[in-house]
Amino acid sequence: MAKNYKAINWNQVSDAIDKATWEKLTEQFWLDTRIPVSNDLGDWRTLDSDHQWLVGHVFGGLTLLDTVQSEQGMAALRKNVVTQHETAVLNNIQFMESVHAKSYSTIFSTLNTPEEIDEIFTWSDSEEFLQNKAVRIAGMYMDDSVDPLKKKVANVFLETFLFYSGFFTPLYYLGHNKLNNVAEIIKLILRDESVHGTYIGYKFQIGLKQLSEKKQQDMKDWMYNFLYELYDNEEKYTHLLYDQVGWTEEVLTFIRYNANKALMNLGQDPLFPDSAADVNPIVMNGISTSTANHDFFSQVGNGYRLGEVEAMEPGDYNIKDPNEK
Ligand SMILES: [Fe+2]
Ligand SMILES: [Fe+2]
Repeated sequence: MAKNYKAINWNQVSDAIDKATWEKLTEQFWLDTRIPVSNDLGDWRTLDSDHQWLVGHVFGGLTLLDTVQSEQGMAALRKNVVTQHETAVLNNIQFMESVHAKSYSTIFSTLNTPEEIDEIFTWSDSEEFLQNKAVRIAGMYMDDSVDPLKKKVANVFLETFLFYSGFFTPLYYLGHNKLNNVAEIIKLILRDESVHGTYIGYKFQIGLKQLSEKKQQDMKDWMYNFLYELYDNEEKYTHLLYDQVGWTEEVLTFIRYNANKALMNLGQDPLFPDSAADVNPIVMNGISTSTANHDFFSQVGNGYRLGEVEAMEPGDYNIKDPNEK
């Protein structure tokens, strides 16, 4: 055991990305309890039972994935940090994953009956294709013999790819000016995930560059195979959720587009031909508009304006090879 324990010094930050990410994440802090979801009840009542089923169950699926992130994801990544500041950032992310997981319950308690909520959780805890992805990723997180870089890949695939079959529904409704408060919660989650995926992807790229060329190639081969495996399952999950409302093909385009973004976060070339132009423009609109200004903190007088923080873009981090002079 080491003789001394080292206090974290924020006045000496070796990786400026740690500090920038900490600042961004703390600036965009939010809580589900401040969003007036009950204002969406009027819209909710206009949906037929197939569409209500869809909304409830996509959020059931998202609850499960955010539970994995909050309980296992960040704990796994924290075992292989390079800097103490990275640990602090991961602590922030872990707490926000718990906020995300809880926020769907805020939506359920407003829109659904207690019987419906029970049914949604029974479904999430047992549905085959949903469980496949949660168990696959959580299994990697919990297995100490799995390469830490592969855990980062799993994390980015979950954050930037596997959530989007669920996000499609609230973004679609937002584009049709429905369920706007529900969508606001989802956009706040999306804004967080955007930073998370970029940050973990950045840390992955630093680690990857330190491997031999052969090992880098092996990692890339593994990564693309893993993505295919996840996509194969995601296709089935998407059919299960969306066939009854007829949106399946549009959702599949959207998730392929996001799979490419996950690869971009990891510094890799896209796999699928789908680009932003192929995605339903109503859904793209939902993604690109900034969040509404709920001005949560003015009541306590510290002047935060939540809505002013924009989502991260891939170019926000200029990733340099740490070995380069
Ligand atoms: Fe999350
Ligand atoms: Fe996240």
